[in-house]
Amino acid sequence: MTSTYELLAARLRTAFDDLLPGADPTLRVSDRSDYQVNGVMAVAKSLGENPRAVADRLMNGLDMGGLATMEVAGPGFINLTLTPELLDGQLRSLLGDDRLGVSEVQGRTAVIDYSAPNVAKEMHVGHLRSTVIGDALARLYRFKGYSVVARNHVGDWGTPFGMLIEHLLDLGEEEAIASLGIGDLNTFYRSAREKFDADDTFKERSRLRVVALQSGDDETLRLWRILVAESVAYFTEVYEALDVTLTPADVVGESFYNPMLNDVVRDLDSAGLIVESDGALCVFPEGFTTREGEPLPVIVQKRDEGFGYAATDLAAVRNRVGDLGGTDLLYVVGAPQAQHFAMVWAVARAAGWLPENVRIEHIAFGSVLGPDRKVFKSRSGETVKLISLLNEAIDKAAATLLERSPDMELEQRTELATHIGRAAIKYADLSSDRQRDYVFDLERMVNFEGDTGPYLQYAHARIRSIFRRLGDEVSFDDVHFMLGEPAERTLALGLLAFPEAVDGAVATCQPHRLTGYLFDLAQRFTSFYEACPVLSVDEPLRSERLALCEITARTLRLGLGLLGIYAPDQM
Ligand code: ARG
Repeated sequence: MTSTYELLAARLRTAFDDLLPGADPTLRVSDRSDYQVNGVMAVAKSLGENPRAVADRLMNGLDMGGLATMEVAGPGFINLTLTPELLDGQLRSLLGDDRLGVSEVQGRTAVIDYSAPNVAKEMHVGHLRSTVIGDALARLYRFKGYSVVARNHVGDWGTPFGMLIEHLLDLGEEEAIASLGIGDLNTFYRSAREKFDADDTFKERSRLRVVALQSGDDETLRLWRILVAESVAYFTEVYEALDVTLTPADVVGESFYNPMLNDVVRDLDSAGLIVESDGALCVFPEGFTTREGEPLPVIVQKRDEGFGYAATDLAAVRNRVGDLGGTDLLYVVGAPQAQHFAMVWAVARAAGWLPENVRIEHIAFGSVLGPDRKVFKSRSGETVKLISLLNEAIDKAAATLLERSPDMELEQRTELATHIGRAAIKYADLSSDRQRDYVFDLERMVNFEGDTGPYLQYAHARIRSIFRRLGDEVSFDDVHFMLGEPAERTLALGLLAFPEAVDGAVATCQPHRLTGYLFDLAQRFTSFYEACPVLSVDEPLRSERLALCEITARTLRLGLGLLGIYAPDQM
């Protein structure tokens, strides 16, 4: 089916082309009417005419083809009110459409870089954000028809591996594997670091080990592989616990790009971009300077001939466009790395690896704050383990369930608590503008009331319980939507606006567009359910209202699913 928004927009576009060439009308959902046409005022201005007069003229000439009635409002808006026929037809189409009106794009490949923890280091709340936001975007883009390539750009290379490998040897392989296996990554990394800082012979061993690693020494590579494999196994457990779609196959870490780095340098050099500075090979992209006005370098190859983080990201751009055919390159990484990406992309553009038609975007996000509004740390001052946050949320959910439904079987309660705990954590992360910091408040996140994941899960389960009470299957084959009650019409408009919410979230990479929509929809449903009895009314009203319930439940379930949140039928 074609979404209501797209129907209206297409109609408007043709009408405007005839009446007012060059105008770019935009449609906005408005609380005064169903939709509002914007963009008339700008054209009137450029014509030097009175906007209201232009709006009047347009309205008289516009043929909305029975989709909507019109009215000029304010300084030059055109308000559209959808006709009962359109509403009925669209709602009936929704009943038979698994995509609930969302259209699909063709021929686009999104390469999404997300999660990207570091080997032998704990995943912290920053990685939580990248993982949760990235997973939501991957699901949204996939649903929107993009072919999605997930890239888990794990930090698996570089100088720290000298000390990490030496520490592994000191511990003994078995012991090291055991410690990494239980997810004790913080201790592992910290111990290595402490030795490195305190012990000069250890430091020297580490240095030599880095050299051996870079020159491809077999035994060193074998030890390195243990560190990587154990860490990836641990990350995978965290992903499974969170129910995100990343798998070990998506791990394409920094080391993957090693064999390409010499070519990167060669190409940059033949493009005349390389400048030697202090023994290092640098590129100075235009427009980047220090506060003192000195040009800022992207260091491609260090003085010791090693390659750094930037070189790897240059190779990654080249690979994602050239080899993967990416049309949309998204990097879900914390805001502090904004300049790094801006500079790397400027270099990639200068080198010709980033054609104009490829979209590349830093999907930046803010920090997770503790109750004291400082960066979230545990009581002992350590970074907080992501997995323990999730487990705490699940425990809280289990306690709430025990209170609410003491008769629930233990097994069911445990399973439900897992879904609710995940929803709590994910929704809290996704429901605010991602650029902003947010305070980690578990109590609020797990609450069944308010703008929370569990609230929306509950709203969905509550609708399903109506159908359970009903018992037998209902058929909506002959249903018609008369929408006699205002609350019914309000709910219906909400249901028809799902495609805009999805498209908005996709276009801006802002999952909170979708959470905001779903929360609003749940409230529309509540108002409807308070005003309109469902099971106790006669046919055909009963079927109509049941159908509204059905579409609402499906919208909540699909919408939450696109955010990586499972909506159980019963809670
Ligand atoms: N591993 C890095 C970190 O923990 C993030 C990598 C992000 N992705 C990238 N292509 N640079 O900060």
